[in-house]
Amino acid sequence: MSGLLTEIDHVAIAVHDLAATVAWYEDVLGARVVHREVVDSDGVEEALIEVADSFVQLLTPTRDDSPVATFLARRGEGLHHVGYRVDDCALALAAVVAAGGRVIDTVPRPGSRGTTVAFIHPKTVAGTLIELVEEPSPAR
Ligand code: CO
Repeated sequence: MSGLLTEIDHVAIAVHDLAATVAWYEDVLGARVVHREVVDSDGVEEALIEVADSFVQLLTPTRDDSPVATFLARRGEGLHHVGYRVDDCALALAAVVAAGGRVIDTVPRPGSRGTTVAFIHPKTVAGTLIELVEEPSPAR
């Protein structure tokens, strides 16, 4: 059988200063930002750094009631969530629900870059906020 996870889509890191963090990745590691987006519904601005077929997603809040603002206030900067690429977000989400997992999104919703995403609560497994990410077709 084949698993539902096809790739690490992104590792998301919550930061206070997006410009300064991007500059560090560019200057020190020679990283390249390939996408920037403000996701109003989530109250975040993101910069995506390409690493082979995956991304590092640097996230900063755009308003005080953003979940990322709450995260930064409670825990400071650091790893926020892991995005796993899947072929079918609804199917993967259904597998988590069927296994009794606690989910944040009960139905898939639009993410950045035209993706379709759903978040799984960190209490479900290993204290990790998981994002299931279905790429805009065709998969990159
Ligand atoms: Co994400």
